[in-house]
Amino acid sequence: MRTQVGIVGAGPAGLLLSHLLHLHGIESIVIEARTRRHVEERIRAGVLEQGTADLLIEAGVGERMKREGLIHRGIELRFARRRHRIDLSELTGGRTITVYGQHEVVKDLIQARLTAGGQLIFEASDVRVRDLDSATPAISFTHAGQRHELTCDFIAGCDGSHGVCRPAIPAGALTLFEKTYPFGWLGILAEAAPSSEELIYANHERGFALLSMRSKALTRLYVQCAPDANIADWPDARIWQELHARLATDEAFALTEGPILQKGITAMRSLVADPMQYGRFFLAGDAAHIVPATGAKGMNLAVADVRVLTRALADFYRSGQRDRLDQYSSTCLRRVWQVQRFSWWMTSLLHRFEGKTEFDRRRQLAELDYLTHSRAAATTLAENYVGLPLDDA
Ligand code: FAD
Ligand code: DHB
Repeated sequence: MRTQVGIVGAGPAGLLLSHLLHLHGIESIVIEARTRRHVEERIRAGVLEQGTADLLIEAGVGERMKREGLIHRGIELRFARRRHRIDLSELTGGRTITVYGQHEVVKDLIQARLTAGGQLIFEASDVRVRDLDSATPAISFTHAGQRHELTCDFIAGCDGSHGVCRPAIPAGALTLFEKTYPFGWLGILAEAAPSSEELIYANHERGFALLSMRSKALTRLYVQCAPDANIADWPDARIWQELHARLATDEAFALTEGPILQKGITAMRSLVADPMQYGRFFLAGDAAHIVPATGAKGMNLAVADVRVLTRALADFYRSGQRDRLDQYSSTCLRRVWQVQRFSWWMTSLLHRFEGKTEFDRRRQLAELDYLTHSRAAATTLAENYVGLPLDDA
């Protein structure tokens, strides 16, 4: 088998890359380890920056998102039993965020690729990449009991944080920057109308809580938990009890409960791989970097990488120009570090840190107070939350 760009992983990064390349007349094949059903039902991110939503619309895959996505103009910060609204739109010249599940984006992209005759190979096992710095890098994999070899001009490693791509770059050619946070998030999807029209980020002595949503009938909620928490120790009643306690306010608010449809624990960590390229091999999305979930940035960052990579590959195939390809990593890493900074800051602001002193706690509350009473501070939050401008160089 042969293709121009071999893509490992059918998450948002791999699928969007394949779609955008197709719009430039560049051929690709996507190799995915899991079933189509699995990737279409995996509940993960839910907040699209304005730039991400605009890109999906521009690329012709935003129709359902425009119909079903929820446009939000603000978020709430809740602390010391009070509610404070951050008016994202007013602070950023009218920009918004769209609440639309990552798995819905994935469904839309798979549909678009299949409609255009794109090749997506699900349930591939023992996926390997090799000859990455040669003119003909290759992906080998087993599918339906047969071993296959896919020769490519370029390979994009879009296989997420636990994939085979990042480790395929020789250790001496790669530096990893990592940070582990001393907590995780327990997330639930509940069949209940969201108790608020906008997302609520709550700082509470018992730990962080987040109220989000997927539709007018589905609430997505998270509570900070121990990093090694066991889901068995979190029966439904305990989850609701914590949510009620952490979201408690002296102002009007009632948390609506409903049957819990899904439960999962996510570790909170930061990772940056530098560089994000090696020869004819390019990492994009979670394969290259992970951010703690607090800023809702992971999928948006994956989209930003893919946009840069598409333009670089389009230049190459149009005119043989390699400048943008050579600069891929440095272009992406600038945004990656901006987003790492923001996600780390949001995480530090909102979580309970075991072992910190009362001084640290008071400082955290003072920062929240400042943020909710200073236009300058609130603008900093707002412009990062809706998304820094995409690099258009
Ligand atoms: P992935 O989505 O991980 O896709 C990688 C794909 O590669 C997968 O389909 C995987 O099955 C496949 N794969 C893995 N190994 C192999 C292999 N060896 N061979 C072939 N295929 C392989 N981000 C946001 O922007 N906003 C949010 O609100 C947000 N909330 C989140 C909440 C939670 C609970 C979690 C867990 C994450 C959240 N994120 C959020 C992060 C976001 O989900 C990720 O950043 C995003 O999935 C990255 O996309 P990706 O395509 O790079 O990787
Ligand atoms: C969601 C996840 C986040 O990490 C976040 O900051 C906001 C919303 C969500 O899954 O809906």
